[in-house]
Amino acid sequence: MTAATATQAAYVVSALLFILSLAGLSKHESSRSGIVVGIAGMAVALAATIGLASRSISAAGVGLLLAAMAIGAVIGLWRARVVEMTGMPELIAVLHSFVGLAAVLVGWNGYLDVEAHGSAGGELAGSLLRVHHAEVFIGVFIGAVTFTGSIVAYLKLSGRIRSNPLMLPGRNALNLAALAAFAVLTVFFVVRPDLGLLIAVTAVALALGWHLVAAIGGGDMPVVVSMLNSYSGWAAAASGFLLNNNLLIVTGALVGSSGAYLSYIMCQAMNRSFLSVIAGGFGIEAPAAASGADYGEHREITAEEAAGLLSEATSVIITPGYGMAVAQAQHRVADLTRALRERGVQVRFGIHPVAGRLPGHMNVLLAEAKVPYDIVLEMDEINDDFAASSVVLVIGANDTVNPAAEEDAASPIAGMPVLRVWEAAEVIVFKRSMAPGYAGVQNPLFFRDNSRMLFGDARARVEDILGALAALV
Ligand code: TAP
Repeated sequence: MTAATATQAAYVVSALLFILSLAGLSKHESSRSGIVVGIAGMAVALAATIGLASRSISAAGVGLLLAAMAIGAVIGLWRARVVEMTGMPELIAVLHSFVGLAAVLVGWNGYLDVEAHGSAGGELAGSLLRVHHAEVFIGVFIGAVTFTGSIVAYLKLSGRIRSNPLMLPGRNALNLAALAAFAVLTVFFVVRPDLGLLIAVTAVALALGWHLVAAIGGGDMPVVVSMLNSYSGWAAAASGFLLNNNLLIVTGALVGSSGAYLSYIMCQAMNRSFLSVIAGGFGIEAPAAASGADYGEHREITAEEAAGLLSEATSVIITPGYGMAVAQAQHRVADLTRALRERGVQVRFGIHPVAGRLPGHMNVLLAEAKVPYDIVLEMDEINDDFAASSVVLVIGANDTVNPAAEEDAASPIAGMPVLRVWEAAEVIVFKRSMAPGYAGVQNPLFFRDNSRMLFGDARARVEDILGALAALV
């Protein structure tokens, strides 16, 4: 077997491991093994690529490669260890910018290499050379859009620039003009490659990526990050064509399509139009707290009263949200779940697809606190069961349990699917104040006859309930 054949065989193994990894990541129970399988796939891919490269580059070159990998690995391990769950979208945005930049560099290298060595030693000729130039152009374009788009997403998410959407006059026309310029420049470049054209398309794509994401409000940034994840996959696939690397093509396509599908699910859960996200056109957010409706008075409950209600309940559903993450209340919530189950109360969790600030946010926190997977249910699985439950604990959730989404057509979140917690006999809402949630709209749930507010930090209040429950024995 030649080295090239061995490398291709290793690539097939890697690609299969990546597919198995994605399959594992689609379920709670298998997500850890999914990550391990993905790491194994990447290890095989790296070993095979370096093995092949070592046959055509000097020992010093291989040494440089390994040194670069070691530095990258150390930085990657360090950042992954220190990042907070709430900072994940920012980190992911930065990582996507690297993929975009790499695709730009690969594209530029592809062009300069052919210029310097005359169509790769004569291997590329005629129409193949044209295909090569098209690959260069497309790779540079997608990579540059991903690069600046991801940087703007990072700056907005980390609060380094204003998260308000930038509303340039005729912004859709500007985006369309950039796409048209890309199409025209591609034709010219394929017919007559020229450094000036490559510089022009790079500049157009950098400006387009920046403008597409600048036009989107910070509120929608996590969907944008998921979309950029998809773009980074396609940028990697474009680099794969250029480098003639089958694994990069397959992996890029996997990332591109799974990122696009995730964005689609998120858009549905937030009632956004998928097509307008791709076009970068959904930056116009409804004005915050648009409805000044007077919902009346809210009522409060003490931790002792809540413990009394829970001890008499037969069925309890907990709907966590972003506030549980802020309070880091998941471990105490798991303790409360255990205490209630020991008393014979049926406890289940209802998870909204966009609860928290990133996909699967609540699932990760509950898994960390060792809440059994079989009582953690998706919104669609549990939404019909609220009416038959005695108590719902809304722990740091707000928009995801807002009845206005279903009942008030004028609400900025109208049409967003929500957890129908208000159908339960009693609802206890854990939050620190009457402040609105992420969407900036008031929540009529808090003023319903069957709702009571338990004010304070969610972790402290759950601890109080645990103490009160223990005293009831
Ligand atoms: P939110 O609507 O963001 O509300 C969270 C609530 O938690 C707030 O009302 C806040 O009220 C409370 N809170 C904060 N810190 C707390 C603490 N230490 N203790 C107790 N309560 C605390 O939450 P949600 O229901 O999870 O909704 C998520 C929102 O984010 C949705 O609008 C969704 O569209 C958006 N979003 C989600 C994603 C993903 S992928 N998950 C992506 C983008 C956007 P107080 O300040 O009064 O305490």
